[in-house]
Amino acid sequence: MKRTVIIDALKSEALGQPIHVCGWVRSRRGNKNVSFIALNDGSTIKNIQIVADLSKFSEEQLKPVTTGACLGATGVLVASQGAGQSVEIQLTDLEVFGTADPEKYPLQKKGLSMEYLRTIAHLRPRTNTFGAVFRIRHNMAMAIHTYFHEHGYFYFHTPLITASDCEGAGQMFQVTTKNLYNLKFDENGQIDYSDDFFGKQAALTVSGQLEGELAAMALGKIYTFGPTFRAENSNTPRHLAEFWMIEPEVAFIDKDELMDLEEDFIKFCVRWALEHCMDDLEFLNQFVDKGLIERLRSVIDTDFVRLPYTEGINILQEAIKNGKKFEFPCNWGDDLSSEHERYLVEQHFGKPVIMTDYPKDIKAFYMKINEDDKTVQGTDVLFPQIGEIIGGSVREADFDKLNAEIERRQIPMKDMWWYLDTRRFGAAPHAGFGLGFERLMLFVTGMQNIRDVIPFPRTPKNADF
Ligand code: 4AD
Ligand code: MG
Repeated sequence: MKRTVIIDALKSEALGQPIHVCGWVRSRRGNKNVSFIALNDGSTIKNIQIVADLSKFSEEQLKPVTTGACLGATGVLVASQGAGQSVEIQLTDLEVFGTADPEKYPLQKKGLSMEYLRTIAHLRPRTNTFGAVFRIRHNMAMAIHTYFHEHGYFYFHTPLITASDCEGAGQMFQVTTKNLYNLKFDENGQIDYSDDFFGKQAALTVSGQLEGELAAMALGKIYTFGPTFRAENSNTPRHLAEFWMIEPEVAFIDKDELMDLEEDFIKFCVRWALEHCMDDLEFLNQFVDKGLIERLRSVIDTDFVRLPYTEGINILQEAIKNGKKFEFPCNWGDDLSSEHERYLVEQHFGKPVIMTDYPKDIKAFYMKINEDDKTVQGTDVLFPQIGEIIGGSVREADFDKLNAEIERRQIPMKDMWWYLDTRRFGAAPHAGFGLGFERLMLFVTGMQNIRDVIPFPRTPKNADF
C-alpha cells in the first residue's frame, strides 16, 4: 500500500479507510489489552498514534517496537478517543524495518543536554527539538530564495576557493595539495606555491562579496547564499568556522535604501517563519524559549533604530557615567564588543538597531568613506540576544579613493586587479550586506548556541561527523 506521510495522515478525514505510514518510534506505552505507539516520520513535529490490540498482536511481535526502531504500520484510520490528536491508526499489519536496542540506543532517555546531543549529532535530528530546528532551517532557506526571487534578484554562485581575502582579516583556511612535510621555499624563505595545485596560495572564502560586486555591475541585483569559512579561533555561542551567508549586492542604491532592504528582508524572513513553521515554533516556545513567539512578532511590528556609531558611543559613555560596568573599553574608534551591542539593543532601545557610519579603521577596505574622511558607510544590524546579525555597507565606487585606501592599508592587490576593474569600467554606486544564516536561525528558533542550529557544526578542535 502507498505510504501516507504523517503530516497528511493527521489531517486526513478518510475515517474508516485503510492507511499505511512509516516512521521511527518515539515511545510505546500501554496495558495488557492494548499498546500505544507514538510514530514520527519527520514530516511534522507531531506523532501519529498507532494502537495495537494485544488480542491480535503477540508480545513477541511487538517486542522490537522500542524507542528509535523504524516501522511500517498499516491499519485503519479512526477518530481518536485520547486527548492530543484527532485521528489514530488501528494496527492491522506491522513491519519492522530496523530495531534499536533499548540498552544501546542513546536517545532512549528524555531531557538530554544540548552538550551531550552535540556528541551524537548523527542522531540528534531525531529529537523533537532538532527536528523542529532543521525544518525551520529549510523554511528559512525557502524564505530567502523567495524574497530575492520575488524582488527581481538573481541567485549568483560565487566560488568557495579563492585567492583573495575579502575581509582582510587573515582568517582563511588554506587549500593546498602540497606535501606539508616537504615544502619548497624561495630565496626569501617564503613558501613557493608555483607548483601547488592553483599555482598560487589559495584558501576557502570568507565571503562571496567581491565576486558578488562584479555580478551586481552586470545583473543589477544579485544575491549569494552559500557556505563561508573563517579560521577565527572564537569559541563562542555565536561563531562557527563554517557558516552559511546570504549576500545581496545591489547597483544604484544608497545607504538609506540599503538599510530599508536589510530591515525589510529580515522582517520577511521572520514573518515567513510565523506563517510556515507554527507547529515547530510552538514547540520551541514551550520547551526552549518561552518568549520566542512574542519576540518574533514584536520584531516584525517595530521600526528598527538607525543609529550612527558616534551616537552609540555617546550612549555607552553616558551609561558608564551612570554606573554601568563593561568588560571592554568603548571609546570612539574602538570596535564594539557584543556586550556593548547587546546593551544598546536590549537595554537602551529594546529593539533592533542598525548602526551606521563606523570609524574607517575598524571596518574593511571596500566601504565608502564619508566626507569627514574618518567614518565609513557601514550599516550593521544588531539584534536582541544575537548581537550582529548583518554586516553591510555602501561600497567605495570611486577608483582613486578605493585605490588610496588599498595603498594606505598595504593590501596586496596583485591578485585583485579584476576587482578594481569594476571601478575602472562603468563604475556604479552600489551597496550590499551579509546576513549570517545561523545567526538568523538563532533568532528565529530561540536556541542558545550556534552549534545547535546547523546540522554538523565546525568549530575550533571539532570537525566530527
Ligand atoms: O560582518 P561580516 O564579516 O561581513 C562580510 O563578510 C561582508 N563581506 C558581507 C557583505 O557586505 N557582503 O559577516 C557578515 C555576517 C555577520 O554579520 C554575521 O551574521 C555572520 O556573517 N558571521 C558569522 N556567523 C557565524 N560564525 C562566524 N564566525 C561569523 N562571522 C560572521
Ligand atoms: Mg561584521
